[in-house]
Amino acid sequence: MQCILGKFAEGFYTHLCKNNLPFISFCIHILLQLFLIINYSHAGNVQPKKEKYLPDYNVYHNLSTIKRTVEDIVFRNWDYMKLDYTHLSREGRPQLLIRVTNFTGSTSSNIHGSTIPATKLKVLLSYGEHSREFLPVETLFYFLKRLTKGLREPKDSPEETYSRFILSRLDLFIIVMVNPDGRNYVERTGNYCWRGTSTGVDLNRNFDWNYGGPGSKAEKADEEYRGEHAFSEPESLVFKELVSRYRFDAFVSFHSGIRQIYVPFADTRSKSIHRSPENVAAMLQLASKLSHSTAYKFIYGVANKINQYTADGTIFDYMAGVKKVPFSLAIELWGEGDHKGAQCFDLFNPPSHALQDVVETLQPMYKALFTYLVDWKDRQMSLELGVEFLAPSLTLGYVLLVAVIIVTFIVAVYNRLPPSLRLVPRRRVVSLKTLSSTFTSLKLT
Ligand SMILES: *[C@@H]1O[C@H](CO)[C@@H](O)[C@H](O)[C@H]1NC(C)=O
Ligand SMILES: *[C@@H]1O[C@H](CO)[C@@H](O)[C@H](O)[C@H]1NC(C)=O
Ligand SMILES: [Zn+2]
Repeated sequence: MQCILGKFAEGFYTHLCKNNLPFISFCIHILLQLFLIINYSHAGNVQPKKEKYLPDYNVYHNLSTIKRTVEDIVFRNWDYMKLDYTHLSREGRPQLLIRVTNFTGSTSSNIHGSTIPATKLKVLLSYGEHSREFLPVETLFYFLKRLTKGLREPKDSPEETYSRFILSRLDLFIIVMVNPDGRNYVERTGNYCWRGTSTGVDLNRNFDWNYGGPGSKAEKADEEYRGEHAFSEPESLVFKELVSRYRFDAFVSFHSGIRQIYVPFADTRSKSIHRSPENVAAMLQLASKLSHSTAYKFIYGVANKINQYTADGTIFDYMAGVKKVPFSLAIELWGEGDHKGAQCFDLFNPPSHALQDVVETLQPMYKALFTYLVDWKDRQMSLELGVEFLAPSLTLGYVLLVAVIIVTFIVAVYNRLPPSLRLVPRRRVVSLKTLSSTFTSLKLT
């Protein structure tokens, strides 16, 4: 039973049955069924519900304080961060793309114009795809504030070292609010069950990997509505553009609702044909590291194996399957996964008074993510370097081999030459007579 009223009616019905009131209980039963049918006839979870608790906007950011906080952090740290407003939602709200790296020495103030070395680890992080999931972006703000605060700590302190590590080794792209219209809808209407865009599209079903499969819906009223076609939503384009412009080492899509870390693929077809991305072993290793990085315990694994449902057209499948990004994960940061609950906000977000604690508890995951990936990148580069160092000796090896073959060939041919053409005739006594007869025969032919 999925709601408090339902539970009450059910209890009442059981009570009546126990007290042998068959007719009344029959009536109640019919009423209960009718109630449930009316209450749950809407597909998905997008109907507003009476909430257990609501966000306090002095604790949680709302859409306008999200924008202000981003601007505040970026403009105070212009040597290390750039902000881009050009990617817009359907209703024209900026998705707020930040690039974080040490820009010192770079002349351009344009987010794309800088010449950041390709040796830096390139990571794309995505927040706010689903409107009702408020928590993920709060963990991002904590990370960014800690990063900039660390720069002002004494040199070589752990905080300063961490900030320096991030800025010198990473070239980080962050989409702060993928779906600002949906977030606006939630705040404006108070419907904390809303997941999609302003037109109800689930952006995480709108991508070109097994798009349109049964792990998504064609009905507009469903919370898994995939949109008219792949990339039909303006909000989806920022991913497509970034991934065609840059070669990312890793992509992470942050969500909440349960504590699970997913490795691709999530789609229905991959489940049936047992298809995996090339780098699945390393991705599982990273997921395992992340799952043990905080005081919380996370379940991790290939999405179509640990979930009973499949999801078609997801962003992280697209990154792994179509764009071959070596690491692509979807991380559900918090929650019990209790989708039977009568409310929504509490399924996806901790109460305001607990937010700080949850966000702090989750922080080590960022460090674990970046240290693992930087190590991986180092190993990749030393492999490439190894090939370069090896190259001259390989060439030398080939030259020697070819030389040996030529010498062998010459020796073999030389030994087959008529003795007279050899430079140093072997074991031969030359008499004047044979010499003259050779000349004679030569003349005759
Ligand atoms: C957002 O939150 C701030 C701070 O609590 C508040 O002053 C502001 O009115 C809120 N904005 C909207 C649009 O709700
Ligand atoms: C950023 O790079 C500049 C120039 O290489 C360097 O002097 C500075 O220490 C770096 N800052 C950090 C935080 O790593
Ligand atoms: Zn989500």
